[in-house]
Amino acid sequence: LPRGKGWMTEHLVQYQGVWLTPNFALKGLMWVQDHFKPRSTDICLATFPKTGTTWLKALTFATVNRTRYGFADHPLLTTVPHGCLPFLEACPNDLDGFPSPRLLSTHIPYTLLPNSMTVNQSCRFVYICRDPKDVLVSKWLFMNKLRPKELAPISLEEAFELFCQGISHYGPYWDHVLGYWKASLETPEKVLFLKYEELKEEPSVVVKRLGEFLGHPFSLEEVSKGVVEEIVKLCSFENLSNLEVNKSSVLKLSTQIIIDNRHFFRKGKVGDGKSYLTDEMIKRINEITSEKLLGSGLVFGS
Ligand code: A3P
Repeated sequence: LPRGKGWMTEHLVQYQGVWLTPNFALKGLMWVQDHFKPRSTDICLATFPKTGTTWLKALTFATVNRTRYGFADHPLLTTVPHGCLPFLEACPNDLDGFPSPRLLSTHIPYTLLPNSMTVNQSCRFVYICRDPKDVLVSKWLFMNKLRPKELAPISLEEAFELFCQGISHYGPYWDHVLGYWKASLETPEKVLFLKYEELKEEPSVVVKRLGEFLGHPFSLEEVSKGVVEEIVKLCSFENLSNLEVNKSSVLKLSTQIIIDNRHFFRKGKVGDGKSYLTDEMIKRINEITSEKLLGSGLVFGS
Protein backbone atom coordinates (compact mmCIF):
# COMPACT_ATOMS: atom_id res chain seq x y z
CA LEU A 1 0.00 0.00 0.00
CA PRO A 2 1.39 3.46 -0.89
CA ARG A 3 2.08 6.16 1.66
CA GLY A 4 -1.12 8.01 2.41
CA LYS A 5 -3.02 4.73 2.46
CA GLY A 6 -2.61 1.96 4.99
CA TRP A 7 -2.58 4.24 8.01
CA MET A 8 -0.70 7.05 6.36
CA THR A 9 2.81 6.95 7.73
CA GLU A 10 5.23 4.79 5.79
CA HIS A 11 3.77 2.48 3.16
CA LEU A 12 3.01 -1.07 4.24
CA VAL A 13 4.17 -4.26 2.57
CA GLN A 14 2.95 -7.77 3.15
CA TYR A 15 5.62 -10.21 4.24
CA GLN A 16 4.59 -13.82 4.80
CA GLY A 17 1.01 -12.68 5.30
CA VAL A 18 1.88 -9.90 7.77
CA TRP A 19 1.62 -6.15 7.02
CA LEU A 20 4.84 -4.35 7.94
CA THR A 21 6.55 -1.05 7.26
CA PRO A 22 9.56 -1.90 5.09
CA ASN A 23 12.03 0.54 6.60
CA PHE A 24 11.30 -0.16 10.22
CA ALA A 25 9.30 -3.29 11.05
CA LEU A 26 10.58 -5.47 8.21
CA LYS A 27 14.13 -4.27 8.70
CA GLY A 28 13.75 -4.94 12.43
CA LEU A 29 12.38 -8.40 11.78
CA MET A 30 15.38 -9.21 9.56
CA TRP A 31 17.70 -7.97 12.27
CA VAL A 32 15.97 -10.16 14.85
CA GLN A 33 16.13 -13.18 12.53
CA ASP A 34 19.79 -12.67 11.57
CA HIS A 35 21.48 -11.00 14.52
CA PHE A 36 19.53 -11.25 17.76
CA LYS A 37 21.07 -13.76 20.17
CA PRO A 38 18.33 -14.88 22.55
CA ARG A 39 19.01 -16.23 26.01
CA SER A 40 16.78 -18.75 27.77
CA THR A 41 16.42 -16.19 30.57
CA ASP A 42 15.05 -13.46 28.25
CA ILE A 43 11.57 -12.14 28.93
CA CYS A 44 9.97 -10.64 25.86
CA LEU A 45 6.81 -8.51 26.05
CA ALA A 46 4.95 -9.14 22.82
CA THR A 47 2.03 -6.97 21.76
CA PHE A 48 0.05 -5.75 18.80
CA PRO A 49 0.16 -1.92 18.72
CA LYS A 50 -2.53 -0.22 20.88
CA THR A 51 -3.36 -3.25 23.01
CA GLY A 52 -1.65 -1.98 26.17
CA THR A 53 2.07 -2.16 25.39
CA THR A 54 2.96 0.91 27.44
CA TRP A 55 1.04 -0.36 30.47
CA LEU A 56 2.51 -3.87 30.26
CA LYS A 57 6.03 -2.45 30.00
CA ALA A 58 5.54 -0.36 33.12
CA LEU A 59 3.97 -3.21 35.12
CA THR A 60 6.61 -5.75 34.14
CA PHE A 61 9.49 -3.38 34.77
CA ALA A 62 8.07 -2.45 38.17
CA THR A 63 7.39 -6.08 39.11
CA VAL A 64 10.81 -7.42 38.16
CA ASN A 65 12.70 -4.52 39.75
CA ARG A 66 10.56 -4.05 42.85
CA THR A 67 13.31 -4.77 45.34
CA ARG A 68 15.78 -2.47 43.57
CA TYR A 69 13.81 0.74 43.70
CA GLY A 70 11.59 2.49 46.21
CA PHE A 71 8.22 3.83 45.05
CA ALA A 72 9.12 7.42 46.04
CA ASP A 73 12.07 7.65 43.62
CA HIS A 74 11.14 4.97 41.11
CA PRO A 75 12.63 5.20 37.57
CA LEU A 76 9.09 5.15 36.15
CA LEU A 77 8.57 8.60 37.69
CA THR A 78 11.29 10.04 35.49
CA THR A 79 11.63 7.62 32.55
CA VAL A 80 8.92 6.81 30.00
CA PRO A 81 7.86 3.12 30.04
CA HIS A 82 9.14 2.70 26.47
CA GLY A 83 12.56 3.84 27.66
CA CYS A 84 12.73 1.12 30.33
CA LEU A 85 13.25 -1.81 27.98
CA PRO A 86 14.70 -2.29 24.50
CA PHE A 87 12.40 -2.68 21.50
CA LEU A 88 13.74 -5.43 19.24
CA GLU A 89 12.64 -3.89 15.93
CA ALA A 90 14.70 -0.82 16.71
CA CYS A 91 17.74 -3.14 16.31
CA PRO A 92 19.34 -2.35 19.69
CA ASN A 93 22.99 -3.26 19.18
CA ASP A 94 24.06 -3.19 22.80
CA LEU A 95 21.97 -6.15 23.99
CA ASP A 96 24.92 -8.50 24.48
CA GLY A 97 26.12 -6.32 27.33
CA PHE A 98 22.78 -6.47 29.18
CA PRO A 99 22.79 -8.61 32.34
CA SER A 100 20.33 -11.52 32.52
CA PRO A 101 17.43 -11.71 32.79
CA ARG A 102 16.85 -9.21 29.99
CA LEU A 103 13.47 -7.54 29.60
CA LEU A 104 12.71 -6.94 25.91
CA SER A 105 9.75 -5.94 23.78
CA THR A 106 8.47 -6.60 20.28
CA HIS A 107 5.40 -6.34 18.04
CA ILE A 108 6.57 -9.25 15.83
CA PRO A 109 3.94 -12.00 15.43
CA TYR A 110 4.85 -15.31 17.06
CA THR A 111 4.83 -17.07 13.69
CA LEU A 112 7.59 -14.80 12.30
CA LEU A 113 9.93 -15.09 15.27
CA PRO A 114 13.08 -17.13 14.65
CA ASN A 115 13.21 -20.67 16.08
CA SER A 116 16.06 -19.49 18.27
CA MET A 117 13.49 -17.48 20.24
CA THR A 118 10.59 -19.90 20.27
CA VAL A 119 12.09 -23.39 20.12
CA ASN A 120 15.78 -23.61 20.80
CA GLN A 121 16.86 -21.00 23.31
CA SER A 122 13.19 -20.32 23.91
CA CYS A 123 12.64 -16.98 25.59
CA ARG A 124 9.60 -16.45 27.77
CA PHE A 125 6.85 -14.19 26.43
CA VAL A 126 4.19 -12.07 28.03
CA TYR A 127 1.46 -11.20 25.53
CA ILE A 128 -1.44 -8.82 26.02
CA CYS A 129 -4.47 -8.66 23.74
CA ARG A 130 -7.49 -6.39 23.69
CA ASP A 131 -10.96 -6.24 22.18
CA PRO A 132 -10.43 -5.51 18.45
CA LYS A 133 -12.99 -2.66 18.48
CA ASP A 134 -10.94 -0.78 21.08
CA VAL A 135 -7.69 -1.59 19.27
CA LEU A 136 -9.05 -0.28 15.98
CA VAL A 137 -10.37 2.98 17.41
CA SER A 138 -7.28 3.56 19.55
CA LYS A 139 -5.09 2.97 16.49
CA TRP A 140 -7.19 5.21 14.22
CA LEU A 141 -7.00 8.14 16.64
CA PHE A 142 -3.29 7.51 17.30
CA MET A 143 -2.38 7.40 13.61
CA ASN A 144 -4.31 10.59 12.91
CA LYS A 145 -2.32 12.30 15.67
CA LEU A 146 0.98 11.12 14.14
CA ARG A 147 -0.10 12.06 10.63
CA PRO A 148 2.26 14.31 8.69
CA LYS A 149 0.62 17.72 8.31
CA GLU A 150 0.43 17.49 4.51
CA LEU A 151 -1.77 14.38 4.66
CA ALA A 152 -5.52 14.54 5.26
CA PRO A 153 -6.83 12.64 8.27
CA ILE A 154 -8.00 9.11 7.59
CA SER A 155 -11.75 8.61 8.06
CA LEU A 156 -13.07 6.07 10.53
CA GLU A 157 -14.77 4.27 7.63
CA GLU A 158 -11.47 3.86 5.80
CA ALA A 159 -9.61 2.85 8.96
CA PHE A 160 -12.34 0.32 9.73
CA GLU A 161 -12.22 -1.18 6.25
CA LEU A 162 -8.44 -1.56 6.33
CA PHE A 163 -8.45 -3.06 9.82
CA CYS A 164 -11.18 -5.55 8.90
CA GLN A 165 -9.13 -6.61 5.87
CA GLY A 166 -6.22 -7.22 8.22
CA ILE A 167 -4.28 -4.21 6.91
CA SER A 168 -2.65 -2.67 9.94
CA HIS A 169 0.93 -2.59 11.24
CA TYR A 170 1.79 -6.22 12.16
CA GLY A 171 -1.74 -7.25 11.14
CA PRO A 172 -4.04 -9.02 10.60
CA TYR A 173 -4.81 -8.41 14.26
CA TRP A 174 -6.64 -11.73 14.77
CA ASP A 175 -3.71 -13.76 13.39
CA HIS A 176 -1.33 -11.93 15.72
CA VAL A 177 -3.50 -12.77 18.73
CA LEU A 178 -4.00 -16.39 17.68
CA GLY A 179 -0.27 -16.99 17.19
CA TYR A 180 0.49 -16.14 20.82
CA TRP A 181 -2.74 -17.70 22.09
CA LYS A 182 -1.89 -21.08 20.54
CA ALA A 183 1.69 -20.86 21.83
CA SER A 184 0.35 -20.13 25.31
CA LEU A 185 -1.79 -23.27 25.16
CA GLU A 186 1.06 -25.43 23.88
CA THR A 187 3.77 -24.07 26.18
CA PRO A 188 2.09 -22.24 29.08
CA GLU A 189 5.39 -22.08 30.96
CA LYS A 190 6.82 -20.04 28.08
CA VAL A 191 3.94 -17.76 27.10
CA LEU A 192 1.73 -15.85 29.51
CA PHE A 193 -1.38 -14.64 27.69
CA LEU A 194 -3.16 -11.64 29.20
CA LYS A 195 -6.17 -9.54 28.28
CA TYR A 196 -6.30 -5.75 28.68
CA GLU A 197 -9.88 -6.10 29.96
CA GLU A 198 -8.83 -8.55 32.72
CA LEU A 199 -6.01 -6.28 33.71
CA LYS A 200 -8.43 -3.38 34.02
CA GLU A 201 -10.91 -5.47 35.99
CA GLU A 202 -8.54 -7.08 38.48
CA PRO A 203 -5.11 -5.51 38.17
CA SER A 204 -3.75 -6.94 41.44
CA VAL A 205 -4.72 -10.50 40.50
CA VAL A 206 -3.05 -10.19 37.09
CA VAL A 207 0.08 -8.56 38.52
CA LYS A 208 0.44 -11.47 40.95
CA ARG A 209 0.18 -13.89 38.01
CA LEU A 210 2.75 -11.82 36.17
CA GLY A 211 5.14 -11.97 39.13
CA GLU A 212 4.74 -15.74 39.38
CA PHE A 213 5.30 -16.27 35.65
CA LEU A 214 8.37 -14.03 35.62
CA GLY A 215 9.95 -16.01 38.44
CA HIS A 216 9.44 -13.14 40.89
CA PRO A 217 6.41 -14.32 42.90
CA PHE A 218 5.07 -11.93 45.52
CA SER A 219 5.68 -13.23 49.04
CA LEU A 220 2.91 -13.21 51.64
CA GLU A 221 4.75 -10.42 53.40
CA GLU A 222 4.85 -8.31 50.22
CA VAL A 223 1.16 -8.95 49.63
CA SER A 224 0.22 -7.96 53.17
CA LYS A 225 2.39 -4.82 52.92
CA GLY A 226 0.46 -3.78 49.78
CA VAL A 227 3.39 -4.01 47.34
CA VAL A 228 1.12 -5.31 44.55
CA GLU A 229 -1.26 -2.37 44.96
CA GLU A 230 1.70 0.05 44.96
CA ILE A 231 2.81 -1.33 41.60
CA VAL A 232 -0.74 -1.12 40.22
CA LYS A 233 -0.99 2.50 41.41
CA LEU A 234 2.41 3.48 40.05
CA CYS A 235 1.53 2.07 36.62
CA SER A 236 -2.09 3.25 36.51
CA PHE A 237 -3.29 5.34 33.59
CA GLU A 238 -4.04 8.21 35.96
CA ASN A 239 -0.54 8.22 37.43
CA LEU A 240 1.53 7.60 34.30
CA SER A 241 -0.44 9.97 32.06
CA ASN A 242 -0.02 12.81 34.54
CA LEU A 243 3.73 12.49 34.96
CA GLU A 244 5.65 15.33 33.37
CA VAL A 245 8.06 12.90 31.68
CA ASN A 246 5.21 11.10 29.93
CA LYS A 247 3.62 14.37 28.83
CA SER A 248 6.73 16.01 27.42
CA SER A 249 9.13 13.34 26.10
CA VAL A 250 9.53 12.16 22.56
CA LEU A 251 10.21 8.58 21.56
CA LYS A 252 12.76 8.20 18.78
CA LEU A 253 12.33 4.79 17.16
CA SER A 254 14.43 5.64 14.08
CA THR A 255 15.61 8.76 12.29
CA GLN A 256 12.16 8.99 10.67
CA ILE A 257 9.89 7.72 13.43
CA ILE A 258 9.68 10.16 16.30
CA ILE A 259 6.52 10.04 18.44
CA ASP A 260 5.31 12.39 21.16
CA ASN A 261 5.09 10.07 24.18
CA ARG A 262 1.85 11.68 25.35
CA HIS A 263 0.05 10.02 22.41
CA PHE A 264 0.46 6.65 24.16
CA PHE A 265 -2.04 7.85 26.76
CA ARG A 266 -5.52 8.68 25.57
CA LYS A 267 -8.41 7.32 27.69
CA GLY A 268 -7.28 3.90 28.87
CA LYS A 269 -10.86 2.58 29.04
CA VAL A 270 -12.57 -0.69 28.16
CA GLY A 271 -15.31 -0.47 25.52
CA ASP A 272 -14.56 3.06 24.31
CA GLY A 273 -14.34 1.83 20.69
CA LYS A 274 -18.06 1.17 20.61
CA SER A 275 -18.86 4.83 21.19
CA TYR A 276 -17.22 5.65 17.82
CA LEU A 277 -18.46 2.71 15.74
CA THR A 278 -21.90 2.34 14.16
CA ASP A 279 -24.06 -0.68 15.07
CA GLU A 280 -23.28 -2.11 11.66
CA MET A 281 -19.55 -1.74 12.17
CA ILE A 282 -19.79 -3.39 15.57
CA LYS A 283 -21.78 -6.26 14.09
CA ARG A 284 -19.29 -6.77 11.26
CA ILE A 285 -16.16 -6.69 13.43
CA ASN A 286 -17.78 -9.02 15.98
CA GLU A 287 -18.62 -11.45 13.17
CA ILE A 288 -15.07 -11.38 11.84
CA THR A 289 -13.78 -11.95 15.37
CA SER A 290 -16.09 -14.92 16.01
CA GLU A 291 -15.18 -16.44 12.66
CA LYS A 292 -11.44 -16.00 13.14
CA LEU A 293 -11.41 -17.25 16.71
CA LEU A 294 -13.84 -20.11 16.12
CA GLY A 295 -12.68 -23.25 17.88
CA SER A 296 -9.70 -21.54 19.50
CA GLY A 297 -11.27 -21.22 22.95
CA LEU A 298 -10.52 -17.48 22.93
CA VAL A 299 -13.35 -14.97 23.07
CA PHE A 300 -13.79 -11.21 23.30
CA GLY A 301 -16.81 -9.37 24.66
CA SER A 302 -19.57 -8.04 22.42
P1 A3P B 1 -6.85 4.18 24.27
O1 A3P B 1 -6.47 4.84 22.98
O2 A3P B 1 -8.06 3.29 24.11
O3 A3P B 1 -7.01 5.12 25.40
P2 A3P B 1 -0.12 0.89 23.39
O4 A3P B 1 0.61 1.19 24.64
O5 A3P B 1 -0.07 -0.56 22.99
O6 A3P B 1 0.25 1.83 22.29
O7 A3P B 1 -1.67 1.13 23.69
C1 A3P B 1 -2.17 2.41 23.96
C2 A3P B 1 -3.51 2.26 24.62
O8 A3P B 1 -3.31 1.87 26.00
C3 A3P B 1 -4.28 3.56 24.67
O9 A3P B 1 -5.66 3.18 24.67
C4 A3P B 1 -3.83 4.13 25.99
O10 A3P B 1 -4.67 5.13 26.52
C5 A3P B 1 -3.83 2.88 26.86
N1 A3P B 1 -2.96 2.97 28.05
C6 A3P B 1 -1.74 3.53 28.14
N2 A3P B 1 -1.27 3.44 29.38
C7 A3P B 1 -2.22 2.80 30.11
C8 A3P B 1 -2.34 2.44 31.50
N3 A3P B 1 -1.38 2.72 32.36
N4 A3P B 1 -3.46 1.82 31.89
C9 A3P B 1 -4.46 1.55 31.02
N5 A3P B 1 -4.42 1.88 29.71
C10 A3P B 1 -3.31 2.50 29.25
